[in-house]
Amino acid sequence: MQFISKDIEQYVLDHTTPLPSHLEELVEFTFDNMDIPKMICGPIEGMLLQFLVWISGAHQVLELGTFTGFSSQMMAAALPTDGKITTCEISETNANTARHYYGKSEYGNKIDVRLGPALQTLDSLNGPFDLIFIDADKTNYPRYYQKAVDLLSPKGVIVIDNVLWGGRVLDPKDEDSIAIAQVNELVKNDSRVDHVLLPIRDGVMLIKHKSTK
Ligand SMILES: C[S@@+](CC[C@H](N)C(=O)[O-])C[C@H]1O[C@@H](n2cnc3c(N)ncnc32)[C@H](O)[C@@H]1O
Repeated sequence: MQFISKDIEQYVLDHTTPLPSHLEELVEFTFDNMDIPKMICGPIEGMLLQFLVWISGAHQVLELGTFTGFSSQMMAAALPTDGKITTCEISETNANTARHYYGKSEYGNKIDVRLGPALQTLDSLNGPFDLIFIDADKTNYPRYYQKAVDLLSPKGVIVIDNVLWGGRVLDPKDEDSIAIAQVNELVKNDSRVDHVLLPIRDGVMLIKHKSTK
């Protein structure tokens, strides 16, 4: 399901900072060579992630789901000099592709790819992380969320991608849709957090610890 018209999406794109040439190259490579290129979050959401890192002043970022490294590169560009991104990827091919393109970026040395199932990697991390971007396999989203809340710094933000899942969350039937609908309910009923679901691209949920005085 396309939530906004193609014309409006193009207009939004035309009024968003264009990608640097090495990321244009990465997007082109992804669409030419990967089986499911649309897994890439794209320039609009990528720029949103970059803004979130910038506004929050995040130093430590955790990403679940590297793919070809587009979103991690967008975030890395807004990190302070001592900032770091840890990104988890299960596919060695994807991890190697991402590393290759990190090598072409002046920010690539800030990104550390952890190869393996994200749930296992999460158990080996101490945190805290200032921004956690959840964008790996959908069936584990509820587990990723629970672990992410424990690893989040007091002023940190969790970003969950694809929370509308093409509209299928309205009537979830398959495993992925059910897991995404579940994580949305978990967040909604979690008294520890504040959250907003933005209808950007396939739905982006922002979550933070509840504000206290
Ligand atoms: C939607 S893509 C990530 C897109 C990336 N964040 C971007 O916007 O450029 C999801 C990625 O998660 C990886 N993945 C799937 N299951 C995983 C798991 N259990 N642990 C870690 N990574 C996993 C996939 O191989 C794929 O590369």
